[in-house]
Amino acid sequence: MFADLDLLPPDPILGVTAAFRRDTSPSKVDLGIGVYRDDEGNTPVPGAVREAERAMLAEQSTKTYVGPAGNLEFNERIGQMALGPLATSLRERIATIQTVGGCGALRIAAEVVRVANPQAAIHVSDPTWANHEPLIGTVGLPLQRYPYYDPATRGVAFERMLEHFAGLPAGEVVLLHACCHNPTGADLEPGQWSAIAEICERRGLLPFVDLAYQGLGDSLDADALGLRIVAQRVPELLLAVSCSKNFGLYRERAGALVALADGVSAASAIATQQARAARRMYSMPPDHGAAIVARLLRDPALCEMWEQELASMTARMKSLRAMLVERLAARRPDLDYSWLVRQRGMFSLLGLDPAAVRALSERHHIYTPPDGRMNIAGISAANVDHIAESILALTPPVP
Ligand code: LMR
Repeated sequence: MFADLDLLPPDPILGVTAAFRRDTSPSKVDLGIGVYRDDEGNTPVPGAVREAERAMLAEQSTKTYVGPAGNLEFNERIGQMALGPLATSLRERIATIQTVGGCGALRIAAEVVRVANPQAAIHVSDPTWANHEPLIGTVGLPLQRYPYYDPATRGVAFERMLEHFAGLPAGEVVLLHACCHNPTGADLEPGQWSAIAEICERRGLLPFVDLAYQGLGDSLDADALGLRIVAQRVPELLLAVSCSKNFGLYRERAGALVALADGVSAASAIATQQARAARRMYSMPPDHGAAIVARLLRDPALCEMWEQELASMTARMKSLRAMLVERLAARRPDLDYSWLVRQRGMFSLLGLDPAAVRALSERHHIYTPPDGRMNIAGISAANVDHIAESILALTPPVP
């Protein structure tokens, strides 16, 4: 049966962790997988999350099945966190399912789209998170890319993005990163979100928003602003939420798919489709992480504590961006790296060619995925000079 199976190459992101672990150099740096790190390189569980976990376990009286939709309180509260007051006004039109992380939400959304319209293409940004296309595309829907990142400005190629959207037939799906664009760090401005909302409404496009970093760009509300601008305007929307990064619950796989339907009966139908898709793949989501989040969000004191912890993670990543820019500028004042502080969240693209990215790990022991995406949280006071020198050593001379 398995004798002729192909041996697959390493995953572009997960494979970086394995390569980093194999390197014995004392100066090695992991700028690969997107996890938050403190100055010692650890990925701590936020204190509020630990407390919520303790309280949740103390209160838990059974481990019986939760059902395919998962933890209903979590579903409700995570929708409120993402959509703000809209979660209440749109309540009747919303169907939420707890999922196996944000990945599970993306996959179930694609499964439901395929049932609704097997011809609907999903358009993803160019570039996008390395797992978006494999995760969504293997459902069997056509995939396309829309222009997004302009390497010359290190910002969003907004005119070209909008032009692409303007040429799409009704019923096509556009996958948008709510904040902290992965891998570029280049986010849309509120005015640009309004233009996207307008074009989705006018042309009948379905916005499919991936919210994996709420709170890690600027703040919980600021990072959801674009999503909310779109949600209040369009009749239908899909929203994939991940609790991995902002709650530090990576391995617990807590996420949700929030679907906004054009009416109460359509929302009920979506709920049954979501549940069937889950049942056919894994039956029910794991409870632990979602139960922690529900417990935390129910408790105002824990919420306040967590928001402060989240704000300090976000502030730290901004300060790391500024520190790297300062070290680069000190060595090469003729080069402009200010785009690094304009970008948001955990990632930025170094803009090095593939050979230079390989040299970064082989010669300088700095590990990133093959596209040269760096995890900003992997920078520290101890390694920033080594990173700055290595980047500059591999940067082609100015013509
Ligand atoms: C990342 O982009 O590095 C994270 O979302 C982890 C992953 O699963 O790829």
